[in-house]
Amino acid sequence: MRDATLCTIHPTISEEGYTALTVPTHRASTIVFPDAAAYATRGQRDLDGFSYGLHGTPTNRVLEAQLTALEGGRHTVLVPSGQTAIAVIFLAMLKPGDTVLIPDSAYPPVTGFCRNFLAPLGIGHRVYRPDASDLEAQIDSSVKLIWMEAPGSTTMEVQDVPAIVALAKRHGILTGIDNTWATPLLFKPLAHGVDFSMQALTKYVGGHSDLLMGSVSVNDSELRRRLRDQMRMLGLGVPPDAVSLALRGIETMAVRMAHQGRVALELARELADRGVGEVLHPALPSCPGHEIFKRDFAGASGVFSIVLPEAARLNPALDALRVFAIGASWGGTRSLMAPMTITRENAHPRNDKTILRLQIGLEDPADLRADLEAFFDILTTEQADA
Ligand SMILES: Cc1ncc(COP(=O)(O)O)c(C=O)c1O
Repeated sequence: MRDATLCTIHPTISEEGYTALTVPTHRASTIVFPDAAAYATRGQRDLDGFSYGLHGTPTNRVLEAQLTALEGGRHTVLVPSGQTAIAVIFLAMLKPGDTVLIPDSAYPPVTGFCRNFLAPLGIGHRVYRPDASDLEAQIDSSVKLIWMEAPGSTTMEVQDVPAIVALAKRHGILTGIDNTWATPLLFKPLAHGVDFSMQALTKYVGGHSDLLMGSVSVNDSELRRRLRDQMRMLGLGVPPDAVSLALRGIETMAVRMAHQGRVALELARELADRGVGEVLHPALPSCPGHEIFKRDFAGASGVFSIVLPEAARLNPALDALRVFAIGASWGGTRSLMAPMTITRENAHPRNDKTILRLQIGLEDPADLRADLEAFFDILTTEQADA
């Protein structure tokens, strides 16, 4: 062969004796086939097989299998973000005329997706209270999916997942949950009969604030096929380089989360004792759904909220932070504060109040404590002056 050809064809080498603990990053768009017959029958390869890089390489399959094992399910699909995971579930399961029911406490872009993307397609949505007290009354023959999120975004209500699943099953309705806060380390939705367990891998699996990815795990192969069909039509896939970051992150997830959960609960208790405002942490008795949390969850992660009594003096306190960074998202090594104003479709007791969401990272707890001390001193001093 001539040089130009030698440049394009990589020689095959022996991998004998090469065993590493790391997962190779297999990058590929094109997949090649050993012969004409294999190419002609490539469509018959099952969903775990390989036909085109967009649908995953062996690197992706390793993460899928690892998440499937943690979720206690049968299949997992990977998508480019947590929001994409939610969108793909909804699009795969709902057609014009159908309705999805979502809790008032859902991650706000879910409502935005329903209102701005699904509604023009003729797919309806209705919002129910996080405690599900008005859920059954909203069920009619158009409802095909009940969405859940526990604890709720920012307001932290813990939903009674087993009760909602039982209700949905009585009506032949599918259920899905955003399990990003707990991850399958602290709550296993599929074991409670939920059909779709979704997480933003962006948070605790990634673990370092540098990755965007989402996953959906299921027990039912037909539901997996519908998700994968939807992804294929939309041209959605996840690059193996990003998957390799998730594979690195997941190795330390259990230790990180145990530490973050412990420190976050200590700080939440101290802030509640200090009386800085209503502390919303599922492990505190004052949090809506606390009894359900104790019954169903193996522990708490590192995110909780505080309903601030007076929002107007927030900015000087935020500007004085030295350890906490100001920003949304969570799951990384840095502690974050994100002020949020909650607007709900249903009447909500916390509407129009500023809620401060805290993500606890891996810094020394003493430095976090000092930062919080200074933060609330400024907040309350300014208030007293006002
Ligand atoms: C509860 C929850 N679900 C889903 C998402 C979306 O994840 P991503 O940022 O990967 O789209 C977020 C992101 O903030 C979230 O907080």
